[in-house]
Amino acid sequence: MKSILDNHPALAAEVARVAEVAGYLWQRGWAERNGGNITVNITHLVDPGIAALPALAPPRPIGATLPHLRGTFFYCKGTNRRMRDLARRPMENGSVIRITPDCAHYEIIADTVVAPTSELPSHLSVHNYLIGKGSTYRASLHTHPTELVALSHHRPFLQPDVLTRLLWSMIPETKAFCPRGLGIVPYMLPGSVELAEATIRAIDEDYDVVLWEKHGVFAVADDIVEAFDMVDTLSKSAAIYRDARAMGFTPDGMTEAQMNELSRVFRLPK
Ligand code: 13P
Ligand code: ZN
Repeated sequence: MKSILDNHPALAAEVARVAEVAGYLWQRGWAERNGGNITVNITHLVDPGIAALPALAPPRPIGATLPHLRGTFFYCKGTNRRMRDLARRPMENGSVIRITPDCAHYEIIADTVVAPTSELPSHLSVHNYLIGKGSTYRASLHTHPTELVALSHHRPFLQPDVLTRLLWSMIPETKAFCPRGLGIVPYMLPGSVELAEATIRAIDEDYDVVLWEKHGVFAVADDIVEAFDMVDTLSKSAAIYRDARAMGFTPDGMTEAQMNELSRVFRLPK
């Protein structure tokens, strides 16, 4: 079958990165069944040929009006599609969408009518927010990392920055590569506009990764590999914490002075 990727190598490379990450999510055990979703703003890769593609189905509502998305295009994982399938066949388990001029609907333009993820309100609201802020971030990732979701089942860990400090203190890399920490979003219905709005509020507090209580994480970054790496790094810390507890002790963690030194030397934002 003909694909939009056939004669658009830059777009093909971008979609290949999404497929690579989808494979990691499955290997990590974070993507049971259709769990998790990815969207990437691909507007910069759209040439007049792509822009002129006809809609494959009537426009569908986003559920919100997002003015900064005028004229934008996204690759989106399909709803109910599996990451492990997307890893091998990204254009059969995801699609390219165009935001309509009213900024409240989208149209699927390639390759086939694969309906985008049920978390589209969160993804597109966050992209709208990022563009409005002039951010360079183009990728957003939602996934179900087991250790981080487990931590979200303990109320004291949902207080602001309790988990940020705990996870940073497990290994220096976590603060170095996830320097804004882990924001917290209280439990809300998956796919809801309320969850989208709460996610933006948390990202606006200056987090790149937020924990959706009893559900998963949502991460934003320049590209999808970086979004994955931040979640992977936080999960590593969570696993160290879990393993120390399983060995029968509470880990000491790096000291405040050691973490401050790290911020100074690596010029970290917090
Ligand atoms: P989708 O299959 O609609 O992307 O949903 C997966 C998910 O993780 C919802 O939170
Ligand atoms: Zn989910």
